[in-house]
Amino acid sequence: MMPGRAEEIIMRFTRRSFIKATSASICLPAIVGRAWAAEGGAPLPIPEVMDLAGGTMGELTAQLGKSRMLQGVETETAGYSQAFSGPLIRVKRGETARLKLGNTIAEPVSVHWHGMFIEGAQDGGPHSPVNPNEVRDAVLDIDQPASTLWYHSHIMERTGAHVWYGLAGMLWVDDPDAPDSGLPNTYGEDDIPLVVQDRIFGSNGAMVYTPRGPSLMHGYRGDEILVNGAIRPEASVPAGLVRLRILNGSNARIYHFAFEDGRSFAQVATDGGLLPAPATMTSLTLAPAERAEIVVDFSDGAAVRLLSGPDTNSPMGGMGGMGGMMGAMASPQTDANGMFEVMRFAVNTGLAAKVTALAPTLAGAPVPEFGEPVRRRSFRLDMMGAGGMMSMMAGGGGGMAINGDSMDMGVINVAAPLNETEIWEISAAQMQHPFHVHGTAFQVLSNGGKPVDSAKVGLKDVVLVDGKAEILIRFTRTADAATPYMYHCHILEHEDAGMMGQFTVA
Ligand code: C2O
Ligand code: CU
Ligand code: CU
Repeated sequence: MMPGRAEEIIMRFTRRSFIKATSASICLPAIVGRAWAAEGGAPLPIPEVMDLAGGTMGELTAQLGKSRMLQGVETETAGYSQAFSGPLIRVKRGETARLKLGNTIAEPVSVHWHGMFIEGAQDGGPHSPVNPNEVRDAVLDIDQPASTLWYHSHIMERTGAHVWYGLAGMLWVDDPDAPDSGLPNTYGEDDIPLVVQDRIFGSNGAMVYTPRGPSLMHGYRGDEILVNGAIRPEASVPAGLVRLRILNGSNARIYHFAFEDGRSFAQVATDGGLLPAPATMTSLTLAPAERAEIVVDFSDGAAVRLLSGPDTNSPMGGMGGMGGMMGAMASPQTDANGMFEVMRFAVNTGLAAKVTALAPTLAGAPVPEFGEPVRRRSFRLDMMGAGGMMSMMAGGGGGMAINGDSMDMGVINVAAPLNETEIWEISAAQMQHPFHVHGTAFQVLSNGGKPVDSAKVGLKDVVLVDGKAEILIRFTRTADAATPYMYHCHILEHEDAGMMGQFTVA
């Protein structure tokens, strides 16, 4: 690979990050002498739409860029055909979506279509890199329920860094034949994408990514919250019902969303598409890579903030005094109620309130048809494997595993038969892990020792494993040994440290 300017920048990212880590990363609120301010309240950026319906050819080129996220400095970022993140891609069920994938960054990247039911050869995982200055064709046969998916780079040991700097975007599947459920659907007005990500910025405004020791074990978390690439922005919404399609695009942080005034909202969709009926709630937990669509009523005209509770997911729970020692994780400052701000909403009566009531059931929700399971497999997510936690605490990496094996690109861990329903039992002793499977969607049968009501949870491709989870799963697309599917923890530092396996479907 020819070293170039881009490569220098990537290397600088790393070097700066390293300097930062030794001085102040674990640090906390006030960084002395920083050249920037992080003020929220700027208008929520609405991603540009790349509509691939009707055979329009799309293009996604990984690039480096500069973004204005902070006041006073520019931040070096990465994106697909833009400075940070990527366009919101829309595809239609029943069509073939085509894209040219390019890469002007001096290291391989990929475009993995997270949540899409497509063959391994098109899945965009670690075996399908887009090398620097190369162009690759993506040909995606879209056949799955309408849903909120996303795409991101997925290179062996680099996924965490790539997503952190910006190589991730949203993708919506539309189903023209599904009955209209009457949900708000005016893009950017009452149907709004929200990609929520936490970040750490160094004193010079550069994003800092240095997972090691505790920040590798917990997963790398930040103390500033970005929504669609802006710090705690403000959305302008009509005085009616608004659909928020939320993606937790963070590397590791688990959010516990709630509105400041305690208002209830209705969850209408999950990873794999609509729920059979809206589920009313006042708080929503979303682990990394999970999506939820919620409908919020703004008809009272009041401004309100969306907050989150802190992420307490930690492997140190059972290790006595170490909890305190390991508590030095970057985290947004919380208020007196223990909550931090994610973003704000202001009602604009100049916008048309097109939807004012929600149907009691959602026509067009996918009906899961798994049938009787024919076999059971177990997956044990392990943070202690080869090398172990002590090495990680001392600043080492690696050592994470599934069933004792760290991810090895040359080893196929599971061969799953096509169209056979299986039960997968996933266990995780030390902390909660968001377990993700490529190529399909599954139903959660139980989690944390309790049965799960699938009507309330819907189809999923990520499950936050609480001790032990059982899922009902079936594969309807194939993946060969050259381009297998992955299953892994979606705390990206865990994935990159080896908590991933690969499987074929035939
Ligand atoms: Cu979001 Cu293996 O992926
Ligand atoms: Cu995926
Ligand atoms: Cu994990």
